[in-house]
Amino acid sequence: MTVQISEPVGDALSEAADDFAQRILTWYDRAARVLPWRIAPGDRSVPDPYRVWMAEIMLQQTTVAAVSGYFMRFTERWPTVADLADAADADVMAAWAGLGYYARARNLLACARAIMDTHGGRFPDSEAALRALPGIGDYTAASVAAIAFGRRAVVIDANIERVIARHRLITTPLPMAKREIRAALAPLVPDDRSGDFAQALMDLGATICTPRGPACAICPLMADCAARGRADIDRLPVKPPKKAKPHRHGLAYWIERDEQVWLVRRPGKGMLGGMRALPGGDWSDVCPRESAIASVDHGFTHFDLTLALVRREAPPKVPGAAAEGQWWPISDLDAAGLPTLYRKLVDKMLEKRA
Ligand code: ADE
Repeated sequence: MTVQISEPVGDALSEAADDFAQRILTWYDRAARVLPWRIAPGDRSVPDPYRVWMAEIMLQQTTVAAVSGYFMRFTERWPTVADLADAADADVMAAWAGLGYYARARNLLACARAIMDTHGGRFPDSEAALRALPGIGDYTAASVAAIAFGRRAVVIDANIERVIARHRLITTPLPMAKREIRAALAPLVPDDRSGDFAQALMDLGATICTPRGPACAICPLMADCAARGRADIDRLPVKPPKKAKPHRHGLAYWIERDEQVWLVRRPGKGMLGGMRALPGGDWSDVCPRESAIASVDHGFTHFDLTLALVRREAPPKVPGAAAEGQWWPISDLDAAGLPTLYRKLVDKMLEKRA
């Protein structure tokens, strides 16, 4: 008897999954966004794992709009993983400037070098082997395995999280909801076109199932979406209560000579690690007393920072990390690869000097 009951139930489930995949893939065939790293549905070109990986690293915590230009510049300058592995650290860090989360750039290089050193220059094609590489976590391993190699993998980014939480009316707050979302999505992933399936859900989340005011009327998943028509659909997925961010303060020094300014490189690890910067002290809870010529407010993920700029006459004479730096032409500061925090402060200073 159990056999008679379980078989139809199993069939019905897999039919529902096929139907879900079919609807989202049919929609994608028509509505896929054209993106520089993407192979359009229907195009039979073989994806280049290097480009897929690069895009997925850049897209973490960042929007498609912010990434596109960086992706084009990186792949033009370093067209293969071998080219990137050979690049100077300073060039890659400078090219990444403005994209944020700089540990990603350090890991990008470490990963390219690991692929050359331990994988003969070829990306491994399984999730597990990808995950063992520097900077590749669960999300990137799954997305590269699916998009570059057509492997069946459960890919979950913030867009997909939102689509599934709504479709299944998962009201558990994040991050606890992640397990339920994964459990709901896993059986829906098709064996074929797993990469397109993931990208279709991403595009749906970005264009139709948007955080606020989703366009349910034109959604291919509308028929069985459990959240459709609910006044509180914008609340899904339920976010954890926002933690108050601590506020920190710091000083940066403007040291100028002959139309040049003294720049340093920040230590390899930690905030903005390995990036070029104005020299300065540690950031702390205490507001410095020195009188500033300019200041900027900048939001990091875990704290807000007010950075004040103070004039100094000469670079520190003490030997050691703090003394390492270089004179940089003020007219060429665009080429210094300063992260956004310092770029904003420099722009304010240049406005004053003008
Ligand atoms: N966000 C992260 N990866 C993406 C992709 N492959 N396409 C569109 N948006 C994305």
